[in-house]
Amino acid sequence: MSFPAVTANKTENGLVLAETDLEMIRYIHGINGPVLTVHGEGFAMAEMVTVNGLPGEVIALKPDAATVQIYESTAGLKRGMTVEKTNHPMSITLRPGIIGGIFDGIMRPLNENIARRFSAQITAEPGQTLNGGDIFASVEETESITYKAMVPPGVSGVVSYAAPHGEYSSSEKIILLETQNGTHELSLSQKWPIRIPRPVKRKLSAEIPLITGQRVIDSLFPIVKGGTCAIPGGFGTGKTMTQHQLAKFCDADIIIYIGCGERGNEMTEVLEDFAKLKDPRTNASLLSRTVLIANTSDMPVAAREASIYTGITLAECYRDMGCDVAVMADSTSRWAEALRELSSRLAEIPAEEGYPAYLATRLAAFYSRAGYAENLNGTNGSVTIIGAVSPQGADFSEPVTLHTKRFTRCFWALDRRLAYARHFPAINPLQSYSGYLPEIDEWYVKNIHPDFPIYREKILKTLFEESTLLETAKLVGTDSLTQKEKQVLSVAKKIRENFTAQNAHTDPFTPLQKQFELMKNILRATSENHRSVRILNTR
Ligand SMILES: Nc1ncnc2c1ncn2[C@@H]1O[C@H](COP(=O)(O)OP(=O)(O)OP(=O)(O)O)[C@@H](O)[C@H]1O
Ligand SMILES: [Mg+2]
Repeated sequence: MSFPAVTANKTENGLVLAETDLEMIRYIHGINGPVLTVHGEGFAMAEMVTVNGLPGEVIALKPDAATVQIYESTAGLKRGMTVEKTNHPMSITLRPGIIGGIFDGIMRPLNENIARRFSAQITAEPGQTLNGGDIFASVEETESITYKAMVPPGVSGVVSYAAPHGEYSSSEKIILLETQNGTHELSLSQKWPIRIPRPVKRKLSAEIPLITGQRVIDSLFPIVKGGTCAIPGGFGTGKTMTQHQLAKFCDADIIIYIGCGERGNEMTEVLEDFAKLKDPRTNASLLSRTVLIANTSDMPVAAREASIYTGITLAECYRDMGCDVAVMADSTSRWAEALRELSSRLAEIPAEEGYPAYLATRLAAFYSRAGYAENLNGTNGSVTIIGAVSPQGADFSEPVTLHTKRFTRCFWALDRRLAYARHFPAINPLQSYSGYLPEIDEWYVKNIHPDFPIYREKILKTLFEESTLLETAKLVGTDSLTQKEKQVLSVAKKIRENFTAQNAHTDPFTPLQKQFELMKNILRATSENHRSVRILNTR
């Protein structure tokens, strides 16, 4: 088989060939799983390409070839096949109609009617100046969410045409903006490269908790709106279940659920469950605030690698509209495995446990896209990221867990022994922590009870004391414990059984005020504790 030569863009008499001929010289030279070596010129790093209709992304450029990862199975591709440039980076289209949908890792709809039209209210008028981030139209996207069409960041100008209110497809032009670089057409949708964070005016300090209704989380290890959290846990310890509980009950406006390399039936479960359940705040179906990004274990690894960026870009888009968005990624370990597989196909030098040396930077870049911010259009919004980590053999010292721990401020460690004992959620209070307490305690004091932090401290202290006492009792027997120590054990047992344990099926949600009352009642259970709390209260 012969391939066109790279120099074929010149004819014998030195004339440059037509553009169509130039396109012809970009062709597949080698195929290794989802990774292609492509000969030809003119590619840009991170540019999106298509091969035989399959989407791909340029991930390395060498003097004589480009390396492309393909987001589909490469079965059937042949050497010599043409590779088409698109001239734009790997992007997704942000548009109305996304909420309630299920998409693959690069945002291709798995269940949606794309030809939909939307009833849009156009809020911009001719003569008005619009800047990046400004809202010019809105669509009632679902019963609880209003989609707001925004000027892409970096674009500004004066409106020369504004369409009337009416029904539009997401790509129809509805505003013409006269900018310094000519007329810019705006529609309800905009493209955004998934690997680039959407800009904000400024990041704000996150001080409001994301209420989840899960007692051990809200009361003991809370997370803020705009925070980051890791849920590490061995096989079957309840990572997915915890993520589902949060997706169902947390008080975010939008949930982006990324099923990354996990079982397909779990995603189906989410779809079915969420359609039936109601959001307690709006009484609308839970699906009408949820977007599912599904890249299950049987789907191509390259799209899995992209799926977390797709999810976070979507989240940033809704944050820009002024929403509080929670992103659940289940599981980031499967994402890291996709990274490892692609890296090994590129023959990169492996670092710890075969993961590429840039694993830590990639994880940092992902989690740093969380935050509470003032948007370009003056609204405030947040992106919270909650990532499950599934370390092999529940070994928390493996690279993905270790690095994730560095970049997240909340850590809900799932414990195999608790899961075996059917204590759910199996969050081990001795290994878990929340780094947000200093910022959010004021909110708890103001909104729930002035003594909330004191009770939390007391509960945690009792659980720590219990573990030390149990160690002692193991050596010398419970009989040798003092009456006071036995009382600590009995209170700790009550905390575990009636407070931190919370069955997702029978006891799915506890309002925060009730959580406080529960803590108070448990600690009042003994006169000893009663007294100590009173002493603490009078401090
Ligand atoms: N909060 C909970 N309430 C009741 N049962 C739970 C809870 N969390 C977990 N379980 C039980 O544990 C089982 C395993 O949970 P789950 O599938 O969430 O684990 P996982 O850590 O995601 O597992 P894997 O490593 O396979 O992904 C569930 O099927 C359920 O029976
Ligand atoms: Mg799971």
